[in-house]
Amino acid sequence: MKLFIDSADVSEIRRLAQSGLVDGVTTNPSLIAKSGGDIAETIAEICSIVPGPISAEVLSIDYEIMVTEGRKLAKIADNVVVKLPLTWDGLRACKVLSDEGTQVNVTVCFSAAQAMLAAKAGATFVSPFVGRLNDIGSEGMELIDDICTIFSQYPEFETEVLVASVRQVSQVVDAGRMGAHAATLPPKIFEGMFMHPLTDKAIKTFVEDAEKSGQKIL
Ligand code: E4P
Repeated sequence: MKLFIDSADVSEIRRLAQSGLVDGVTTNPSLIAKSGGDIAETIAEICSIVPGPISAEVLSIDYEIMVTEGRKLAKIADNVVVKLPLTWDGLRACKVLSDEGTQVNVTVCFSAAQAMLAAKAGATFVSPFVGRLNDIGSEGMELIDDICTIFSQYPEFETEVLVASVRQVSQVVDAGRMGAHAATLPPKIFEGMFMHPLTDKAIKTFVEDAEKSGQKIL
């Protein structure tokens, strides 16, 4: 399962990438605005830090402008994935850009029907937003289960399920259980995956016992 970082904070991405476990990055207009950087420069820098897929979202919602923006974003680096909204115009743009060989991440997916259309439009990734579904009282992970079940029955659907709007570590684990291809995580959740109180407790004991024993390796 691929793990992406959901951030446009270059220094944070650089720090987390040192783990060697970051497979890609997703950004959106809100994250770019929060970073305060220029979109093209920020995406170029992230692409130079992480060699995997880096999602860069178009700013327009108009079909023709999205295609033009997408072509421009795709030229920033070979690992750019153009992020398009799951709308009529967005899917039209997805089909055009995918047919040209550009990788596309279809975002703001909230239903299995939408995900099926993204797959038919040739998306490389579809991003169902689990946290925002939970916010309105729906069960976000049920959507992931549905999409994974449907996609697994159609080998011609090459689109990968990229679980987005993740708010808890347990959602990443559930996504893995359901067979999702990837999840994009806010830095806090990525770091949360490393943590367990019993790990901390065990390490504390091992360090104390090593000191008491006076043993050395180096
Ligand atoms: C992913 O591509 C999205 O940018 C992101 O996961 C949205 O998350 P949010 O609902 O926490 O803003």
